[in-house]
Amino acid sequence: MRTQMKRLLSLLAGVVLCASAYSQVPNPVQMTRADGTPNIHKELSRKVGGKAFAQKTAALPAFAREEAYELTVTPKGYKVQANTETGYFYALQTLQQMETCGTAYDYPRFQYRGFMLDISRHFRDKDFILKQMKALSSLKINQLHLHLTDDAGWRIQVDSYPLLTSQAAWRVGKNWQEWCNLGRLYSQEGAPEAVGGYLTKADVREILAEARRLHINVIPEIEMPGHSREVVFAYPEVGCREGSYELCPGKEATFKLLESVLEEVMDLFPSPYIHIGGDEADKDHWKTCPDCQARMKAEELANVEELQSYLVRRIERFVNAHGRQLLGWDEILEGGLSPNATVMSWRGTQGGAEAISQGHDAVMTPGRFCYLDKVQDAPIYEPEGFGGYLSLDVAHSYEPLEGMPEGAGGHLLGVQGNLWHERIPTPEHTEYMMYPRAAAIAEVGWSQPSRKDGFRERVTRWNDALIADGYHAFDLHKEYGERPAFRNGIQHKAIGKKVTYNQLWNRSYPAAREATFTDGQGGGWSYGDGRWQGFLSDIDVVIDLETEQPVHFVGGTFLCEPGPGIFLPKSVEVWLSADGKDFRQVATIPNEIQKPSQSYVLFGAPVTGSARYVRFVAHPARGFQFLDEIVVN
Ligand code: ACM
Ligand code: ZN
Repeated sequence: MRTQMKRLLSLLAGVVLCASAYSQVPNPVQMTRADGTPNIHKELSRKVGGKAFAQKTAALPAFAREEAYELTVTPKGYKVQANTETGYFYALQTLQQMETCGTAYDYPRFQYRGFMLDISRHFRDKDFILKQMKALSSLKINQLHLHLTDDAGWRIQVDSYPLLTSQAAWRVGKNWQEWCNLGRLYSQEGAPEAVGGYLTKADVREILAEARRLHINVIPEIEMPGHSREVVFAYPEVGCREGSYELCPGKEATFKLLESVLEEVMDLFPSPYIHIGGDEADKDHWKTCPDCQARMKAEELANVEELQSYLVRRIERFVNAHGRQLLGWDEILEGGLSPNATVMSWRGTQGGAEAISQGHDAVMTPGRFCYLDKVQDAPIYEPEGFGGYLSLDVAHSYEPLEGMPEGAGGHLLGVQGNLWHERIPTPEHTEYMMYPRAAAIAEVGWSQPSRKDGFRERVTRWNDALIADGYHAFDLHKEYGERPAFRNGIQHKAIGKKVTYNQLWNRSYPAAREATFTDGQGGGWSYGDGRWQGFLSDIDVVIDLETEQPVHFVGGTFLCEPGPGIFLPKSVEVWLSADGKDFRQVATIPNEIQKPSQSYVLFGAPVTGSARYVRFVAHPARGFQFLDEIVVN
């Protein structure tokens, strides 16, 4: 009787233990737990480069073998086995998150697990970067990509071109938005109105020393030929002419500057990858610039895309000659990819797939899953974001192999989260946007797909610990989540009923086509989520309820987001008919909101009557209208 009771109790304790006290992010390949209080402070044994572990990991890909480890934690202390110091370091990161005794056997799924910080749009200093590296390394992120240069400020000391920092690192306007509103003016180091800053070479050396300790590679990005307004401001001889802000690939002065900058950058950064940007260059000036035209003629380049490709190839030769690999945004595919380049795929996943089909390597950073400048919770309660809504769960749901060519394996290096900073004015806000979503990206990069379960509970513990450690992370306990209409759907009596369009939707935003307004599926926080149908014209549709019946309410919720040009209708009309021919107007709903802001506004009205056909009309005020469902009751 007593032993039975005991057994029952220990069984119960086991269940409780399994259900909680487990907080690894990213989740290891294998994890077992044992009784007792773990002693994570005493190292009992450390075997790095031992024969037994080399044998155990022999079948893994080379990068995984290098980063693999085995960790055992008991009440007496812990033991580590690894093939390299990197593997040993990762064992210690797992150790920090051990809440029970047990063992972990672990290695990464992908070799490249990155995070990008844009320190141009709003400068972030050395101490801030050091602080973030600590958190990122605890997630086993091993690549920190620094977006060091862009229109809004040059952020790294270059001795051969000192105006890049004495002028181009300083601007007028306390934040990016104000700088844009004031006409994008630059300033001068030490001037009273100057806002900005840059990393000195001493700062960079300190960052790199810490990065080495944390087994992080720091990738410098020097943007070219677009996003270079600040360079052309400081050294106008590298632009096409007055008033153009892309670098001029026709002028030798441009290559002299770029090579000189890259030379100093490569002297500082040991990174095997040098990122040269390459995105979003406005090539219009090149079409009329005499130097660009002369270059195109001399090099037999058919168009401006090939002229960009000429610049990238020439820079690649220079970078390769210094023993480094060129990395660039997926636009470097246009006009022909350089022979050895690695592509960072951001405009979806096609760029990565294309690069891999051409035999190149790719790093995946598709905007839909990896752009952390999007808001992470209900936009009506969040600071202003950019480009929509990206929840923790959606970031975590990313599967990098999806849409990749057969056998992409070795060429798909991994994943990266990107944090652009146009709308992130303070360091606290940067941390808020980074965490916990960086943990989702880290798990996508490290953990096997079968080990992604239970993420919410594990990451909540990790994030709570981070907040306790002084980081301004988003508090998951306060997450509101996706819009209720999206989560739960909408009930009403027109669900499944046929909708006839007097005018079709805008072809870019079809949502579920004819089914959209009566499928019971509400839109989410973001107009781009496939639930919202977009129109540049009137919305004018007729719903057939199949039988004549009493109708007492008709309405629809419109999304308003002034940034991308989405506004509420000027007015909405509701019409009823018994036969589908003679309609009688039963409601006009004017827009009474004076100042548009991000919102979700119901245009609905009680109506009186009986009908088989309901006509719903919305007249646009300006720009787009977006509607998810027409509710009839
Ligand atoms: C990018 O987001 N322009 C790479
Ligand atoms: Zn030019």
